[in-house]
Amino acid sequence: MRIRVPATSANIGPGFDSCGVAVSCYLYVEVLNSSTRWQVDHSYGLSVPSDQDNLIVQTALKIAPKLLPQHIKVTSDIPLTRGLGSSSSAIVAGIELANRLGQLNLSESAKVKLATQIEGHPDNVAPAICGDFVVASYQGEKVDYVKHYFPDCELIAFIPSKELATSKSRDVLPHELTYQQAVAASSVANVMVAALVKGDLVTAGQLMEQDQFHEKFRGPLVPHLAKIRQISHEQGGYGCYLSGAGPTVIILAPEHKTDKIVPLLRELDNKAAVEIFHIDREGVQVF
Ligand code: HSE
Repeated sequence: MRIRVPATSANIGPGFDSCGVAVSCYLYVEVLNSSTRWQVDHSYGLSVPSDQDNLIVQTALKIAPKLLPQHIKVTSDIPLTRGLGSSSSAIVAGIELANRLGQLNLSESAKVKLATQIEGHPDNVAPAICGDFVVASYQGEKVDYVKHYFPDCELIAFIPSKELATSKSRDVLPHELTYQQAVAASSVANVMVAALVKGDLVTAGQLMEQDQFHEKFRGPLVPHLAKIRQISHEQGGYGCYLSGAGPTVIILAPEHKTDKIVPLLRELDNKAAVEIFHIDREGVQVF
């Protein structure tokens, strides 16, 4: 059995802790054989546990505590702590592993709820499960979500070489917004979502850049954000936003603009990676 989970880009600007999109970059988990103890082959290095402390295994055991130990192999193109949902992909993989090995028959909404409770917010886990664009809310125990088609475009990701922990990136956020600030911030998010649903990437791209929940507070932690936005404006990108908690920055662009944008991003920092992603329409898959 082989499980494939996509990377995700959360927030999409103003949709803080609520909007996310699945992209064509994947984590794979292969079950090799049953074993006397949990054994995880991976290529992340020593910082990632290769026993039952591994996040994929921990998640699986949380969902199905009686699962028998397995020898699994994990391969992934999703960079860690870069704002592309690597921990969410691991959580979703763990839930699917428990679902299949434990024959739990979990529905999509049950998986979204479990994953959100583990992760703490739905904006990465929901698109990793459902694929495409998902708008979700998490209040107390309740998770509501809607999946919708994300208009076709390229997602050009500028992925800095230095990691940025989500906890550090959340620590710089304010504890409160005034009523007026909250109304303004949510109205921007509402228009962006409506524009995406309508397929209007030009309007959505403009609203993506007017986020008032998080980007201005996180800006100082993110290398080259202003410069990347300038490149997007000058080269015909639809819009540019901080992916999840950063430090990855994404430019949404029509396909024919990528040839111009990619080399300019590469010139900014030769240690950073620049990748072109497409929308993943399927979410988690089992082969
Ligand atoms: N919505 C989350 C944040 C995504 O911006 O902190 C990071 O996992």
